[in-house]
Amino acid sequence: MCGIIAYVGNKSNAGKILFEGLHTLEYRGYDSSGIALINEKNNIKIYKKKGIVKLAKKKFLKEKISSKIGIGHTRWATHGEPNNKNSHPILSYSKNFAIVHNGIIENYSILKKILEEKGYKFRTDTDTEVLINFIEEINKKSKFDFENSLNTALRQIRGAFAIAIINKKIPNYLYGARRGSPLVVGISENNFFLASDASPIVKHTNDVIYLKDNEIVKISSENLKITNLKKEKINPEVKKIELKIEEIEKGGYDSFMLKEIMEQPKSIKRSMLGRINVNKKNLFINGINDYVKKLLNAKRIIIVGCGTSWHAGLVAEYFFEKYTRIPVEVEYGSEFRYRNPILNSDDVVFFISQSGETADTLESVKITKKKGATALGIVNNVGSSIARITDEGCYLHAGPEIGVASTKAFTSQLIILFMIGVRLSNRLNIIKQKKYVEMIYQLNNIPKLVEEILEQRNKIKNIAKIIYKKNSCLFMGRGTNFPVGLEGALKLKEISYIHAEGYPAAELKHGPIALLEKGTPVIVICTRSDEYEKTIANIEEVKARKAMVIAILDSKNKHVSEMVDYSIVVPQIKNDFSPILNIIPLQLLAYYVAKYKGLDVDKPRNLAKSVTVE
Ligand code: AGP
Ligand code: GLU
Repeated sequence: MCGIIAYVGNKSNAGKILFEGLHTLEYRGYDSSGIALINEKNNIKIYKKKGIVKLAKKKFLKEKISSKIGIGHTRWATHGEPNNKNSHPILSYSKNFAIVHNGIIENYSILKKILEEKGYKFRTDTDTEVLINFIEEINKKSKFDFENSLNTALRQIRGAFAIAIINKKIPNYLYGARRGSPLVVGISENNFFLASDASPIVKHTNDVIYLKDNEIVKISSENLKITNLKKEKINPEVKKIELKIEEIEKGGYDSFMLKEIMEQPKSIKRSMLGRINVNKKNLFINGINDYVKKLLNAKRIIIVGCGTSWHAGLVAEYFFEKYTRIPVEVEYGSEFRYRNPILNSDDVVFFISQSGETADTLESVKITKKKGATALGIVNNVGSSIARITDEGCYLHAGPEIGVASTKAFTSQLIILFMIGVRLSNRLNIIKQKKYVEMIYQLNNIPKLVEEILEQRNKIKNIAKIIYKKNSCLFMGRGTNFPVGLEGALKLKEISYIHAEGYPAAELKHGPIALLEKGTPVIVICTRSDEYEKTIANIEEVKARKAMVIAILDSKNKHVSEMVDYSIVVPQIKNDFSPILNIIPLQLLAYYVAKYKGLDVDKPRNLAKSVTVE
């Protein structure tokens, strides 16, 4: 979602630096973009436009202005439609200040009224313009001490923000602040960057400071000062970013999504690194060591996430309940946070998030902690908000996921959850030593099996060619593969815009079967399990309605192969682990369907990579 990049330093090509940064941020999903620079005559110059970054850059390239300070933004509209005027940066009424903002100002309408009564006219429909004018109004009163004005204003703001501001009256200073939305400062000698995540910074430096909520940073090419809203000076903690530039490039693939699907053998391996030790016949989940006892004694485990991360939680529900016999509940972040959940100090709540910034999940962590339950994170993005505020957690170590449709993060989430489940179960003496070791071997072998499935991509591509013109698709599975159906359907609808639904296979006859017509694609996950025969019976029901069945099988069952229209055979694995394999063909199917439709798989319409608004 929306992104920020800002620069101040001794280089005179701030504009170029900002546009490069905006290109790096494109993966987050956005609807407009722009930059503001202070030029040599101390005037603010703005280049912004609805649409892709290239469009905003066009005019800038013609003017070639030299500047040492500026702010840039990719907007994902919340207040006011995506158009040129509502794009950021946004000028204050006097045109002395320019701001970029991620997030939402909740009390904007009341502030807007006050400002209008004072004679302010608004040029945009955004909440952001209210914020910058409110800062301007306070600045008028506080005899132009900008840092103080910012502080006073932000104390009266409700909502979430990461902001960067330039002020032409003090043209050498860049200001930033955050609450709720992330903001990172990059430091490279006399050059400083502010960004919503580390990706646009990594090209310039590995030294960063993660600002905390309610901190304000004031930066010139000479120095940097951080204060909090109590006006206390903060000693910054400089950290190293581990991100490598190659990790955020496509590496020869036509899209990030395909690169990320194909790299799953490696990313799953990375998630297991240092955790699974086949020689020692053991596995270690060091990230949550301090809470293992708590987990073993937990009255219940709750798993919170959104979208794909929620689906990973559902798979874990089947796994944990079967192997630990601890009751598990899986919740959407957006529901959990608003229903005053009953939580006790002996509840353990896992928060699953690729980005670590999803607003609803993040807020749910805060509620959990407030109520005294334990909050554990399963997060990919290192140093992200959820990773920082949970009590402990396990990083996925899947590497940056850039395609909007989550793929490798899902399989890494599953492997981490499986490892946690297996370890707990062994400690609870439910999985005995022999079985424990067997399971460790099986987990360790998963990357190789994923590779075997990826080799079948041409076969999957041919199936995609048959279904890409269809309007609607159903996905069905049973037990632990029911969430795989949900995830397969989500992948297809996200990037190909084909209507898709996932159902437990037996549920079809309770309603959705009415959707079936001759040739409607029904994708059935039918790998060996206790419900295998029953799933086959469900295929019969669907075939009887003349639907087109595409089956994911794990053995050549002649009867099933003859009954279905197309089949994809995946390697056999213990059913409890099968979701991690069965999702791979569904990711590829969605990818190829979208490609046949000529769509941009990395930036599907209306979607953003990290959903930092509720
Ligand atoms: C997945 O393909 C989606 N784009 C989306 O559902 C995503 O999983 C969801 O927004 C949660 O994101 P998170 O894992 O970064 O918290
Ligand atoms: N609320 C602001 C707007 O609608 C910022 C949106 C964003 O985070 O990009 O302009």
